[in-house]
Amino acid sequence: MKVQNKVIVVTGGGSGMGREMVLNLLAKGATVIALDINKTALEETSALAGSNKEKLACYELDITNKEAVEQCVDKIISVHKHVDGLINNAGIIQPFVKLNELGYEEIERVIKVNFYGTLYMTKAFLPHLLTRPEAHIVNVSSMGGFLPVPGQTMYGATKAAVKLMTEGLRSELMDTTVRVSVVFPGAVSTNITANSGLGNPSMAASKENNSFTMLSASKAAQLIIDGMEENRYHILVGKDARMMDLLSRLNPGYAAKLIYSKMKGLLVN
Ligand SMILES: NC(=O)c1ccc[n+]([C@@H]2O[C@H](COP(=O)([O-])OP(=O)(O)OC[C@H]3O[C@@H](n4cnc5c(N)ncnc54)[C@H](O)[C@@H]3O)[C@@H](O)[C@H]2O)c1
Repeated sequence: MKVQNKVIVVTGGGSGMGREMVLNLLAKGATVIALDINKTALEETSALAGSNKEKLACYELDITNKEAVEQCVDKIISVHKHVDGLINNAGIIQPFVKLNELGYEEIERVIKVNFYGTLYMTKAFLPHLLTRPEAHIVNVSSMGGFLPVPGQTMYGATKAAVKLMTEGLRSELMDTTVRVSVVFPGAVSTNITANSGLGNPSMAASKENNSFTMLSASKAAQLIIDGMEENRYHILVGKDARMMDLLSRLNPGYAAKLIYSKMKGLLVN
């Protein structure tokens, strides 16, 4: 679906890839509705939109709150009349510890934001999207959704759930006007660690992690929107995601070992 003159909702529009997608969509002539739990971050996105600001609406929303999601979706549809696209991008990571050391509070938090948040938004918008001449749902998973990243086991499990939910949805909607894509970013330079309440990554961890070159959030956003316009099934973002996607299908055991050896420095213990 071409995004020009369409109305597109982006969750997590206050920061990182979500913010850059908002700016990219506006530049392409879309009307954008940015949602985020962080109101100040949304205001910053709005300021960055410059003269495109009139085509941007921002709403504060916690996507883990089902009732709030449903109310917000009703409000968006009544104010904006129609929505053509939904990009479920908001997400958080877990503390960089092994499952054995990860508490249930942290486990539930990451499941609620990454999986239930995506589910609530999708289910709330789907009946409306099915009435549109054409529509598109884009769900952001992760390279960690098909490959185990040390210290991100539950994060990876939520992203694997997003992957399969999205793939199932695409099949179910094949005979409708709603297209569906799933995104697998590799390492992208954003503030996700701090935004997930984990402080800043340690120098040791960043150094170890540098074996993968980080993509800028604006380049990642461009690749995602291009993939959406081309109706790609899987949108692999970055050389690392493309390479590990191939390797993990050819030799999953080797791929898991490789990623462990490259990224084990991220583990806190
Ligand atoms: N940065 C990476 O390297 C990377 C890699 C793979 C996948 N991803 C995924 O890409 C997506 C975007 O990540 P990013 O790196 O741009 O992160 P980010 O932290 O810069 O942006 C995420 C945004 O989501 C918002 N958010 C968090 N919880 C929310 C909630 N409950 N309700 C509403 N908004 C909420 C945050 O406030 C933030 O503005 C996430 O789903 C992430 O898991 C990121």
